[in-house]
Amino acid sequence: MAIFNFQILLLYSSLSLFFCFLFPQAHSLSFNLKKIGPQHQNVNIIVSPDANITSEGLQLTPNRNDTDLAYRAGKAQWATTLHLWDKSTGNLTDFDTHFVFVIDSGGRSNFADGLTFFLADPIGLDIKPAFALGLPINRDTFMGTSRFVAVEFDTLRNFPPLDQDNIRPGPHVGIDVNSLVSNVTAAWYCNVTSGIENEAWIRYDSSSHNLSVVFTGSTNTTRVEDTIHLIVDLRDYLPEKVTFGFTAATGEWSENHTVISWEFSSSLQIKDTNKFPLGALVGIVVGSLVLVGKASKESDVYSFGVVALEIACGRKPFDFKVPECQMGMVEWVWDLYGMGRLLEAADPKLGPDFDEREMERLIIVGLWCAHPDHNFRPKIRQAIHVFNFEAPLPNLPPKQPTLSFFPPPLNSITTSSGTSQSQHSSSTYNAYSSKFTSSSTTSSLTPECPKKLEE
Ligand SMILES: *[C@@H]1O[C@H](CO)[C@@H](O)[C@H](O)[C@H]1NC(C)=O
Ligand SMILES: *[C@@H]1O[C@H](CO)[C@@H](O)[C@H](O)[C@H]1NC(C)=O
Ligand SMILES: *[C@@H]1O[C@H](CO)[C@@H](O)[C@H](O)[C@H]1NC(C)=O
Ligand SMILES: *[C@@H]1O[C@H](CO)[C@@H](O)[C@H](O)[C@H]1NC(C)=O
Ligand SMILES: *[C@@H]1O[C@H](CO)[C@@H](O)[C@H](O)[C@H]1NC(C)=O
Ligand SMILES: *[C@@H]1O[C@H](CO)[C@@H](O)[C@H](O)[C@H]1NC(C)=O
Ligand SMILES: *[C@@H]1O[C@H](CO)[C@@H](O)[C@H](O)[C@H]1NC(C)=O
Ligand SMILES: *[C@@H]1O[C@H](CO)[C@@H](O)[C@H](O)[C@H]1NC(C)=O
Repeated sequence: MAIFNFQILLLYSSLSLFFCFLFPQAHSLSFNLKKIGPQHQNVNIIVSPDANITSEGLQLTPNRNDTDLAYRAGKAQWATTLHLWDKSTGNLTDFDTHFVFVIDSGGRSNFADGLTFFLADPIGLDIKPAFALGLPINRDTFMGTSRFVAVEFDTLRNFPPLDQDNIRPGPHVGIDVNSLVSNVTAAWYCNVTSGIENEAWIRYDSSSHNLSVVFTGSTNTTRVEDTIHLIVDLRDYLPEKVTFGFTAATGEWSENHTVISWEFSSSLQIKDTNKFPLGALVGIVVGSLVLVGKASKESDVYSFGVVALEIACGRKPFDFKVPECQMGMVEWVWDLYGMGRLLEAADPKLGPDFDEREMERLIIVGLWCAHPDHNFRPKIRQAIHVFNFEAPLPNLPPKQPTLSFFPPPLNSITTSSGTSQSQHSSSTYNAYSSKFTSSSTTSSLTPECPKKLEE
């Protein structure tokens, strides 16, 4: 259930016990940028040195014919690191990524060099301009100058030992482990002269250590698919936390490298006790409890609610080790709410050291935010008012409404940052007020459901 589009930070000023407890999990990373655009630049995707994001997508190397296209290199990294594995437990994550991209020489038949999807040590990652597909490579040894694993979409065949003869006519896909010499390669019919759209799916299976790549191409205008894989225990080659994204480079010959969409998910939740969120934040204060989340969109409000409940109850959204009726956290808590036994949901590990009124608010607001019908979810500002005892608790139905319950889609990550965040939430709050009024009169599901709250 990879719904966590944001990370949450909780601080508790008076009880250090609570503080320790409140950091227990780093959530699996998941995002889907269906159309990469300038709004993602340096918010979700950090670009350097020659990369840029335009309305056409992520341009890893310059694509404007009024600039020098030769000898350029670009890198684009996701804004947060990926927790790949955990030293204390040995746990290793699965991940899956899919992207649509174009490599286009604008009709020229001499083109180079290609792009990569990479995972790398965030420390000391330094890309060399116009060399090695933008990867951190030593020019003399062809070995990594920092640790990386990459899938290369290389449009230029080099001489052995860099590339073997079996990849004629030239363009090829390969998997590189800390070296420019690929561990495995296959020919790639990418049609750079016509700049066709290609797709790749890269998957890592942590139990079989199988890093596999499915990629498309075109032969005689027919779309084809091919695959390569490498069995590699990523723990042997990469640190626990990695940066990940794309690189590309041009040489004497050039081409443009554009990533149009990018989807990523890692499945495993790894314990993490000192992770801080990056990007825009919204703060919630419950007494001396400060809850900070990145939550301005409906799907984020939902995620926020689930995280609030996870914290309050000290459990996962789905737990297969408890009786069936308790497996789904939201439904279970909602039942307790309906029976007037809400505090039984509170995490027993918290002992008596919490304020029952704060706990009640945390749980009820959590349920409200996790309402199956997004029309009934509060805006984050309303949730804050309730947390702060500035607004009454919402009146939720005694059972979790059972309308077609789909968790919200994996939307693209919230893109606002800094001060624009608060402007964003205040405008959506107003919009919500009128929307909410109309939906509450038309829906029969939750007649008593949250009343419009005063600012
Ligand atoms: C980056 O792209 C923007 C359009 O999104 C454009 O205005 C800007 O000039 C580009 N920067 C460079 C260095 O090409
Ligand atoms: C650059 O692009 C413009 C508009 O797309 C075109 O008119 C011009 O001929 C191009 N210049 C070169 C040198 O290709
Ligand atoms: C992580 O590792 C621990 C200890 O080896 C194991 O008990 C646990 O099931 C693992 N968690 C996952 C999600 O694989
Ligand atoms: C890539 O470059 C070519 C010119 O070399 C240009 O015609 C094309 O529009 C560019 N593609 C993108 C997506 O920028
Ligand atoms: C690795 O994954 C690929 C692609 O799914 C599959 O074809 C291959 O058989 C797998 N190899 C092993 C050893 O699991
Ligand atoms: C490349 O794509 C163009 C346009 O679809 C097509 O005319 C051409 O035959 C393709 N070339 C190859 C080698 O497939
Ligand atoms: C493309 O078509 C030509 C002529 O029909 C054929 O000789 C060639 O083998 C085909 N190429 C591929 C990669 O299928
Ligand atoms: C991949 O190749 C590098 C050297 O190029 C080697 O050190 C490494 O052991 C290889 N890894 C695998 C998993 O084959």
